[in-house]
Amino acid sequence: MFENFNVPQELRPSDQRFGVGPSLIPNSHISALLEQAQKIVGTSHRKPAVRKLCQQIQEGLKQYFDLPAGYEVIMGNGGATFLFDMIGLGLVKKKSLHYVLGEFSSKWYKAHKLVPWLDVTKVEVDYGHGVHPQASADVDMICCTLNETSTGVQLTELPDVGAQTLLAVDATSGAGQIKVDFNKVDLYFFSPQKVFAGEGGFYFAIMSPKALARAKELEQRETYRPEVMSWKNAIENSLKNQTYNTPAISSLFLVNEQIKLMNQLGEAEVIRQAKEKLNLITKWVESKSYLDFFVKQKEFRSQSVATIDVESKYSVGDLCERLRSLEVAIDIEGYRKLNRNQLRISLFHNIHYKDLEKLLKIISLAIESEK
Ligand SMILES: Cc1ncc(COP(=O)(O)O)c(C=O)c1O
Repeated sequence: MFENFNVPQELRPSDQRFGVGPSLIPNSHISALLEQAQKIVGTSHRKPAVRKLCQQIQEGLKQYFDLPAGYEVIMGNGGATFLFDMIGLGLVKKKSLHYVLGEFSSKWYKAHKLVPWLDVTKVEVDYGHGVHPQASADVDMICCTLNETSTGVQLTELPDVGAQTLLAVDATSGAGQIKVDFNKVDLYFFSPQKVFAGEGGFYFAIMSPKALARAKELEQRETYRPEVMSWKNAIENSLKNQTYNTPAISSLFLVNEQIKLMNQLGEAEVIRQAKEKLNLITKWVESKSYLDFFVKQKEFRSQSVATIDVESKYSVGDLCERLRSLEVAIDIEGYRKLNRNQLRISLFHNIHYKDLEKLLKIISLAIESEK
C-alpha cells in the first residue's frame, strides 16, 4: 500500500523529524554547538566552563518553571528509567502508589515492585483513558506520569498529598508544555530528549524541600543501594553545578540552547503554541471519517503527543514506511507494544505549526489516494 504515493513539492515540511523522542533538535542549536565546541566539548566537567553551563541550565529551568523557593534542580546520568530505580531505592520509605496509564507508568511501578522492602500498589486504567489521581494518607509516595508517551494521555489535575507523602511526577514528554503547580509536586523529573531537545541518557529531577529532606533521611538507611544511585551524591554534586559522574557535554549544551529559546518566549507562550497544534490536529481528526482519537476523553488528550487511530484498511505501517523513504516524516508510528493501526505525532515545541499542517495534508492525501 502507498508504494506509488508521492508528495507535492510545496507540501514538503522543513524537517522530517516528527517523532516523540528522541526528538527534533534545531539546526541552530547544532550550529551554536559547532561554534562553541572547542571551548567546551572535550573539557572537564569539574572545571568552570562546563560548571557554568550546568549552572545556566539549572537557573534557566528555575526561571522557566518559576520554581518556588527552596526547590533545587538535581541532575545526573541515566535518564528517567534510571530514576525509576533510584526513586524506589532512595526516596520511598515503605509504600508507593502508582497511577498506571500506559507502558512508562507501568515500568515505573514494576521498578518499585522489585525493591524487596517496599509495599507497592497501583491504580490502573485502560490504556487511552485518563484518571484524576487522589491523595492517600496510607502511602508515603504517590507516583504520576504527567504525559504517558505510549498512549498520549496527559494528567490535568494533581492531588494535594499532605505533609507525610511525596508527590513524584514523571514529566518526561510533558515537561515544558504541560502546566503543573509546583507547590503540589515534590519530585518532577524528565529526560531531556523530548521538549527540551537534548540527547538521551540524562535526567533532571526538580526536588522540593520535602523531597530533599526525604533523600537525606533515607540516606541513613542501611539497605543496599548502588553508589551511582545515591541521592546524596546526586544532590551534593548538582548543588555544585556538577554531576556525580561524567556527563555528555554536547547534550547539555543543546539543552541549554533550548532552555534559552523557551525562556525567551516564556512558559505561557510555549504552552499556547502547544495547544494551537493540538487544535489543528483535533480539527483534522474530526474532519476525516477514517481517523479517530485514541484518547476519547478530551480533557486527557495530550498537548504534547497526539495518538490517532486510522481505519484498519489503511496500513499505518505501510504509510510510515513510504513517508520515511520519501524523507518526509519519520518515527510517527504508534507505540509498538500497543499494537494498533495508529499514528503518534509529536507536538513538541520545535515542531513548527506550518510543518505539522503540511504533514497532516500529506497523510490525508496519501490515504485518500487509496480510497
Ligand atoms: C513518560 C516517559 N517516562 C520515561 C521514559 C524513559 O526515558 P529514558 O529512555 O530517557 O530513560 C520515557 C521515554 O520515552 C517516557 O516517555
